[in-house]
Amino acid sequence: MSEIILGIESSCDDTSSAVIVDGEIRSNVIAGQDVHRKYGGVVPELASRAHQQNIVPVVDMAIREAGISKRDVSAVGFTRGPGLMGSLLVGTSFSKGFALSMGIPLIEVNHLQAHILVHFIKEPGSDSGTPEFPFLCLLVSGGHTQLVMVKEHLVMEILGQTIDDAAGEAFDKCAKIMGLPYPGGPWIDKYAGKGDCNSFTFSRPLVGKLDYSFSGLKTSFLYFIRDNEKKEPGFIKSNLNDLCASLQYTIVEILMHKLLIASGQTGIKQVAIAGGVAANSSLRRALKVYGEKYNWRVFLPKPVYTTDNAAMIAINAYYKYIKKDFALQSVVPEARFSF
Ligand code: KG4
Ligand code: ZN
Repeated sequence: MSEIILGIESSCDDTSSAVIVDGEIRSNVIAGQDVHRKYGGVVPELASRAHQQNIVPVVDMAIREAGISKRDVSAVGFTRGPGLMGSLLVGTSFSKGFALSMGIPLIEVNHLQAHILVHFIKEPGSDSGTPEFPFLCLLVSGGHTQLVMVKEHLVMEILGQTIDDAAGEAFDKCAKIMGLPYPGGPWIDKYAGKGDCNSFTFSRPLVGKLDYSFSGLKTSFLYFIRDNEKKEPGFIKSNLNDLCASLQYTIVEILMHKLLIASGQTGIKQVAIAGGVAANSSLRRALKVYGEKYNWRVFLPKPVYTTDNAAMIAINAYYKYIKKDFALQSVVPEARFSF
């Protein structure tokens, strides 16, 4: 009999639902929230309201697109955390109600672990290889930057992480300084494609071990822009492509530097990236280049599985389902939630 998992994601500003059948993707519906754009960042109160409006139609669409009935679902997996409490509550409450009414198991999922497990989502008719254990994964999102050693599907160890801002946050905050819309990462990526990455140099952090830091870069970028705009009004506009290219180059170099050290220290040559920033074209290129240079086997997620989505929640829940690792109805979301 097939194991059919319904995944629910609502940790930040995307309401998403997906269906995975025996590890293979059948649907992955994502409703974004444009309401935050004019505020230059996610407004938690508005995010929870939008989730509340979107969750039923999004789940309904995911079930219909998968060509199944809600009675076929074997278990429901939901994001327990980390994330915005009001947002998490919507997905958690919906999932509890769904599981209870259908008499099926409820499975809690850690959002960060789920980002990494996208590398195990099977696509119909495709047989692209999956990483072998242990492998390294650079998890780079709007809220997190972590170097993770993945020992098994559900056993992961954090080797290093940011001590302040996340890489995605650095992209978004620097984009805001340049007057670009939120989220700024994709915009920087776009303009960087037309610029010269050697035009400007920005400071690199000096943090120990396998940790990261991005707040110094953001501050030096802010002062650099402010000084130059004062000297030459219109500086941003006339140098936008080069600024984006140089900034993106710096962030990618910082990320890759520690990844290289981690591979050297652990001897692991299977290397993956995950999270929203894994959509970045320069980071994806860098991983391939390092792969060839250092003889790594590299794994790049499909762009649709980089930013928040419920397919990743469903695949994570699938591996927990196999182990009968179920949650109680009394489970509560956790805004801060490590694995
Ligand atoms: O994983 P995600 O969807 O949400 C979190 O869990 O945080 O990541 C969102 C982050 C945002 O900071 C966004 O700017 C960044 O991913 N991002 C990118 C790109 N696409 C999304 N950053 C750089 N280049 C991109 N192409
Ligand atoms: Zn995420």
